Amino acid sequence: MNLVSADLTRGVGLREPLVRIAREIDASFDAMLSVPEDPRRRLIEAMRYAAIGGGKRLRPLLLVSTAEMHAVDRAAAVRAATAIEAIHVYSLIHDDLPCMDDDALRHGKPTLHRAFDEATAVLAGDSLHALAFEIIADPVTSGDPFVRAELVQTLAGASGAWGMAGGQMMDIMAEGEVFDLPTVTRLQQLKTGALLGAAVEMGAILARLPAEGRQHLRGFSRDLGLAFQIADDMLDAEGDEALAGKALRKDADRGKQTFLTLLGPERAREQAAMLVEQAIGHLSGYGEEADILRAVARYVVERDH
Ligand code: IPE
Ligand code: IPE
Ligand code: MG
Ligand code: MG
Ligand code: MG
Repeated sequence: MNLVSADLTRGVGLREPLVRIAREIDASFDAMLSVPEDPRRRLIEAMRYAAIGGGKRLRPLLLVSTAEMHAVDRAAAVRAATAIEAIHVYSLIHDDLPCMDDDALRHGKPTLHRAFDEATAVLAGDSLHALAFEIIADPVTSGDPFVRAELVQTLAGASGAWGMAGGQMMDIMAEGEVFDLPTVTRLQQLKTGALLGAAVEMGAILARLPAEGRQHLRGFSRDLGLAFQIADDMLDAEGDEALAGKALRKDADRGKQTFLTLLGPERAREQAAMLVEQAIGHLSGYGEEADILRAVARYVVERDH
């Protein structure tokens, strides 16, 4: 499990919430992915390898924190959080494949296709994608069919061509291309912002917040998503591979247009800091119940992995 260094968790303690959600997500995947005694064994073992014991669990933390601000039952929120993390893990498995980023290391261990093989990695990604929708369509997550349908619609929209997968396509097209700032912003909003936004939105759906009640939360996620991606790009350029647990300096090697190439390190840093303040500004209508979301926003740009 990742332990977050103390300096990143100043202010409202994020260490405890991060450790707690990581344990809950691990336990949730563990319970859902029992290994059968037949030839599918390899597939489930691969899903467990990728899904259990790695990652910051930022999307689950955003979902559960938003839900808890509005007094949603924790177990229901953790189920929805497991679903969004399943999509995230699947996206990383496919992102690391030789036909995409061709990476050998993820979360400090060999990527799934290196530890198993490419066919197994494709199927494990497919199966985690399906598992996500199985979880949120299940009445155990919510007894309200309208809530379940909205969870499915939101997660599907954020995952596919109008969300993460569309952003991944743009990201591939960005190699060796001249994309301007608005295009890179759009790319990042889809590639990373869509799922981060869906995490907050799914918390709001579980809380049955009306549309007006979600506007500020959407503003928060939009700014947070961009700040997150600037930090990811900066970590790629300046981070420590041992801490990151993945190969870095990939963007420059591939001649990829990022916020960093477009803005330069100085302005990128300023922009990320400004976006975090803006994100937090959207939460001004909330009291201390939103302190975890505020702390997550700061953590996103201060993290070292
Ligand atoms: C990394 O996301 C991939 C991007 C979307 C840029 P995270 O940094 O949230 O990944 P983990 O799961 O915590 O490693
Ligand atoms: C991946 O982006 C985003 C996904 C949707 C999976 P990157 O390719 O920049 O992520 P890392 O740097 O490999 O984690
Ligand atoms: Mg990629
Ligand atoms: Mg990658
Ligand atoms: Mg990256």
